[in-house]
Amino acid sequence: MCGICGVVGHRPATPIVFEGLRRLEYRGYDSAGIATVDKGQVARCRAAGKLDNLGKALQETPLSGSTGIGHTRWATHGAPTTTNAHPHRAGQVAIVHNGIIENFSELKKVLVAKGRHFETETDSEAVAHLLDEHIQQGMSPKDAAFATIQKLQGAYAIAMIFEGHDNLLIGARHGAPLAIGYGEGEMFLGSDSLALAPLSDQITYLEDGDWCVLTQDKVEIFNAKGDSVERPVQTTSLTTGQIGKDGYRHFMEKELHEHPVAIGQTLQRVIDPETRRIALPKMPFDAATLPRATITACGSAFYAGVVGRYWLEEFARLPVDIDVASELRYRNPPQPNQGLALLISQSGETADTLGVLRELKAAGQRIVSVLNVEHSTMGRESDLVLGMVAGPEISVASTKAFTAQLSVLAALTIDFARSRGTLSEERERQLTDSLLDLPSHALDVLGLFDEIRSMARVIAQARDVLYLGRGICMPIAQEGALKLKEISYIHAEAYAAGELKHGPISLIDHTVPVVAIAPSNILFDKTLSNLQEAKARGGRILVFTDAKGAERLKDVAEHIVVLPDIDAFAAPILYTIPVQILAYEVALLKGTDVDQPRNLAKSVTVE
Ligand code: F6R
Repeated sequence: MCGICGVVGHRPATPIVFEGLRRLEYRGYDSAGIATVDKGQVARCRAAGKLDNLGKALQETPLSGSTGIGHTRWATHGAPTTTNAHPHRAGQVAIVHNGIIENFSELKKVLVAKGRHFETETDSEAVAHLLDEHIQQGMSPKDAAFATIQKLQGAYAIAMIFEGHDNLLIGARHGAPLAIGYGEGEMFLGSDSLALAPLSDQITYLEDGDWCVLTQDKVEIFNAKGDSVERPVQTTSLTTGQIGKDGYRHFMEKELHEHPVAIGQTLQRVIDPETRRIALPKMPFDAATLPRATITACGSAFYAGVVGRYWLEEFARLPVDIDVASELRYRNPPQPNQGLALLISQSGETADTLGVLRELKAAGQRIVSVLNVEHSTMGRESDLVLGMVAGPEISVASTKAFTAQLSVLAALTIDFARSRGTLSEERERQLTDSLLDLPSHALDVLGLFDEIRSMARVIAQARDVLYLGRGICMPIAQEGALKLKEISYIHAEAYAAGELKHGPISLIDHTVPVVAIAPSNILFDKTLSNLQEAKARGGRILVFTDAKGAERLKDVAEHIVVLPDIDAFAAPILYTIPVQILAYEVALLKGTDVDQPRNLAKSVTVE
């Protein structure tokens, strides 16, 4: 959701910032731009569309100077045009901004009344004018920056440069992430550690309300009150290898192939290798007497949460309330004393989920977050982080983070069930063993690309697709439908298979393929009946099942992809993989932009 980066140093800034933007492009790709300051003069270059357009524009308008800022945009206010692209300039300053300035209309009114002319439809331009207004009043850049951010409401990560100050870069954050990277005679700003990975392994994550003044040799950090503060410098282990495509055509293809590793590494974190039993960190509450849990997340992470609810209710006998974060935040449900709030997020920065975290924390709930980016804002504000070990996920559509999230939730379920005495030791061992089998089964599923591709050919011709699942496979159907919509732009809906006859069955004819997630579990017979009902109405049935299920479905389904046999407990994790591959293969056939689908961006830091 918009990426920003900046450098103050001794080398040409433009290539450094441009490569930083390349690593941030997954956060937004509607437009991009760079501004530098050289011999006291600020200059900028911007282009609508992908970063490559900016690359071309830079050939015509090269930017010199060793201090610069850059931005890759996911449009909120104003169309994705060159005019609306960042950096925004006003008088002697240029700024880039990620987030939403909620009081921009009020600010703009005052600034326009003072004679300022706005060029863009963005909220961010108000920041540039406000900053310049303070400079024109005679303030130093540092004082002007502080005075400016004190007037901003909403969410922001901002980087600022100033005419007449070649050796100065100022950053500020509130509600959107910003990190400092330390170099030799150069300092960097970036929306995340990916932006900074090849530049520095020494990183400070700014806290909410922090702002910083960077020169070639010095970093000063201040809090919202303007007091100088120390923030820890962390060594990151991210390597550039982790953020390349490694020969795959797309990040999504690479990340699909990383499912076995993501699941395996995550399980290694939560299973004791000697006892082969789940071993999680101590919970900040007593799971045995926990009255209820609330789960929340957005998008794919929400569907992982729905699987978690099925598991926790069935195996740990724990009542669970679940809702998408954007709804839960304003629903105001009663919260039990010291209940558990379980948040799930790949990025740890999603504004809706973060908002719920803060609400529920204020309501006295214990906050446990399942995160891929553990040092994210959610990570810092949680009582406990259960880290998944999926590695960087660059493709906008989430893949391996989903199965890693499920792996953590499965481990948590077993841990809670043990504490609550709801699982025999033998069954606990069976469940844990089924998890340990997953990485090799996942590898087998990666061998099914060709079979899934023939299913994809049917889907690619359709305008609408129905995904069906029952019980714990329902959220996997939802994940499949979301992924298909997201990257192939084909309309898809997921239904609980039993709901079909209550309405959606009227949609079915030979043009609406029906994709079923149907392992041979206790609900298989019911799903089979629902599929027969769909077939009787001309539906084309495509199924993911196991060998036993395939035998029963051979007269019903047009395409069957047979997955390895697996305990029903671990099945949702395994069945996710082919469903995501299907969306990928359809997107390839449709020729869409797989990694950067239209209108989307990763890490949604606005409400
Ligand atoms: C779908 C997808 C999104 C994210 C959602 C939450 O493929 O990627 O639906 O799952 O935006 O993001 P995180 O997990 O970062 O909170």
